[in-house]
Amino acid sequence: MAFATTKHLKLRAMRDSDHAYFDIEENDQRVMRTTFPGYIVPKGGSSAKEQREKFLSSALLLVIIEVKKEYTGLRKWDEDEERKENSVKKAEDWDRELFGGFAVLHLPWPKNREASFGISILTQWWGNGFATEVTEWVVQHGFEQLNLHRISLNFFGTNGAAKRVYEKCGFVHEGLKKKVFWLDGQWVDEGLMGIVDEDYLERKKALASKS
Ligand SMILES: CC(C)(COP(=O)(O)OP(=O)(O)OC[C@H]1O[C@@H](n2cnc3c(N)ncnc32)[C@H](O)[C@@H]1OP(=O)(O)O)[C@@H](O)C(=O)NCCC(=O)NCCS
Repeated sequence: MAFATTKHLKLRAMRDSDHAYFDIEENDQRVMRTTFPGYIVPKGGSSAKEQREKFLSSALLLVIIEVKKEYTGLRKWDEDEERKENSVKKAEDWDRELFGGFAVLHLPWPKNREASFGISILTQWWGNGFATEVTEWVVQHGFEQLNLHRISLNFFGTNGAAKRVYEKCGFVHEGLKKKVFWLDGQWVDEGLMGIVDEDYLERKKALASKS
């Protein structure tokens, strides 16, 4: 059952079976190279599951992103992935077909009501506006339902797509830590962005007055 929906997506709670899709994502270097600060090596088995569970179970909000069935045509198939659009019949095949990624908020110090945001979309779905849809929803839910005061995030300086998504959703640049991540034989900066409740509400008013 969906917890919430956006134009193309359903946002739902995590299921045990989702671990298989996280395994795919955590072994996709295109994703790991833009998110993971540690050593990029093959991941799997019980230790990967344990680490993931530790990270996800401490979240204030975790949503699994599922693409609505009518939008599966937006998927770009990987060259090495067998195309089997006509053979999708079983429920678990549909689960695999529709899994789009996840978004998460952590609230390390509840007193301050400052959450940190993270999102990951499976590469097959990139460029469809999904991250923007989900980020808009999380920001709205964070301020209007979870009573957050501030949402913060950080990103690899090389991650132009993430930076663009966050700008589109009202996050402002707050700083740059120089040469933080070692990637592709060179140092990469870390960008810092955030949005506070009053700016969120002002933006919401401004958008409403335009429409
Ligand atoms: C970053 C990520 C979340 C974007 O997801 P997505 O669903 O493709 O994003 P959207 O389609 O909503 O928007 C992408 C925007 O970035 C733009 N973009 C894409 N590549 C870009 C680049 N190299 N530089 C600048 N902008 C770029 C797109 O044109 C689009 O902007 P537009 O709508 O103004 O045209 C996705 O690539 C991802 O999950 N990457 C791996 C994990 C990750 O990096 N997470 C963020 C960690 S901080």
